[in-house]
Amino acid sequence: MTAARPVGIGIIGGGLMGREAAVAFQRWPALLDHPARPQLVSVCDPDPTARAWFDERGIPTVADADELLSDASVEVVYVAVPHHLHESLYLACLRAGKDLFAEKPFGIDLPAAQRILREVEDSGRFVRCSSEMPFYPGAQLAVSMAASGALGEIIEARAAFLHSSDLNRDKPLNWKRQRATCGDIGVMGDLGLHAAHVPLRLGWWPSSVHAILQDLVPDRPDGQGGRAACDTHENATLSCRVGDADRPFPLTMETKRIAPGQMNTWLFEVHGMDGGVGFSTRHPATVRRFRTDADGRQAWEELQPGSQSVHPTITGGIFEFGFTDALLQMWAAFLAEREGQLGAGFGCATPHEAVHSHVLFDAALRSHDQDEVVRLPTLAELAQASAASEPA
Ligand SMILES: NC(=O)c1ccc[n+]([C@@H]2O[C@H](COP(=O)([O-])OP(=O)(O)OC[C@H]3O[C@@H](n4cnc5c(N)ncnc54)[C@H](O)[C@@H]3O)[C@@H](O)[C@H]2O)c1
Repeated sequence: MTAARPVGIGIIGGGLMGREAAVAFQRWPALLDHPARPQLVSVCDPDPTARAWFDERGIPTVADADELLSDASVEVVYVAVPHHLHESLYLACLRAGKDLFAEKPFGIDLPAAQRILREVEDSGRFVRCSSEMPFYPGAQLAVSMAASGALGEIIEARAAFLHSSDLNRDKPLNWKRQRATCGDIGVMGDLGLHAAHVPLRLGWWPSSVHAILQDLVPDRPDGQGGRAACDTHENATLSCRVGDADRPFPLTMETKRIAPGQMNTWLFEVHGMDGGVGFSTRHPATVRRFRTDADGRQAWEELQPGSQSVHPTITGGIFEFGFTDALLQMWAAFLAEREGQLGAGFGCATPHEAVHSHVLFDAALRSHDQDEVVRLPTLAELAQASAASEPA
């Protein structure tokens, strides 16, 4: 067993995800032989109610991000705040010399994402962006089957992240339902990188996109007896053209807050000429595999991937994997890669992947507005444009 290096961590934003991260660090001993050991130094949140949860558990808190960033024992900062604050806080972390685990989206829009990327490159800090669902063992199996080429020529693929609680028109508003705090990309800012991470990792960069965005509930209870505008897009369906120019395949990418019956469904499905694979967190213990047997019979069959993901844990192979396990795995991948010890393991979304997702979502906004197919620059063109914008 290698000696685990302690890594001082600060969290900015002590809400839902700040609490999840703090608890993931408490579960660290479940990992076998990891090169790093996170030590939560401090949590920053201006809201005393948010801080109280950490105070009650003996975790130091501060109200001001500068105080956390000036603490030399903090090496890595996780930022989990509303989207309009991402850019300023990410830049502050990098300028304070900290490594950064960013929440998605990587800035509220494409220009913000590009400015953050420039700062990442100038600072040389280690930065990754949150997207935990591909760490489900079933997702890992599906990704490796898609990457192996064993499915043959791809016929079609689908990647989606679907929620449904907004079907209730009386669900009160929060910052994720308003453009000012969630951005013009709406649900794509909130769920989009979750759906885009695997296709981008597989190199499935679209050459064009046609998008339909839906704002289905225009206002919601404001929590004070009235109603307030709910002006983000709740649902986004992107039809992407992927693959060789003369042999393209459709990639459908869906991010929806109103997908009836889908509580937190992340799915990835690929159909190829020689096989198919599908995984959905709706059925987390199984992976569906398509094959044609020697007698020509076609069958979707069920595989059981077990509990183990990229980083081995004490958990028995027969047990079920869930959301909190995926978060632990994502953090394990982040800290292993930071130590240069990820090896061939699946890594967290990179800054370039996060920016590329923004390029796609920005094109989707234009496609929806104009009801037309929008061509995307190639990855080589994006790299050239990014190099040209660097100061000489
Ligand atoms: N990876 C995932 O599965 C996942 C799930 C939910 C949310 N998220 C992302 O996490 C981020 C936070 O979402 P959430 O659901 O935790 O939101 P939340 O509203 O529960 O928490 C946000 C917290 O940020 C605090 N905050 C506001 N301004 C601040 C500042 N200047 N400095 C420090 N803290 C500040 C708020 O007081 C609040 O406690 C968002 O980027 C969201 O998209 C990711």
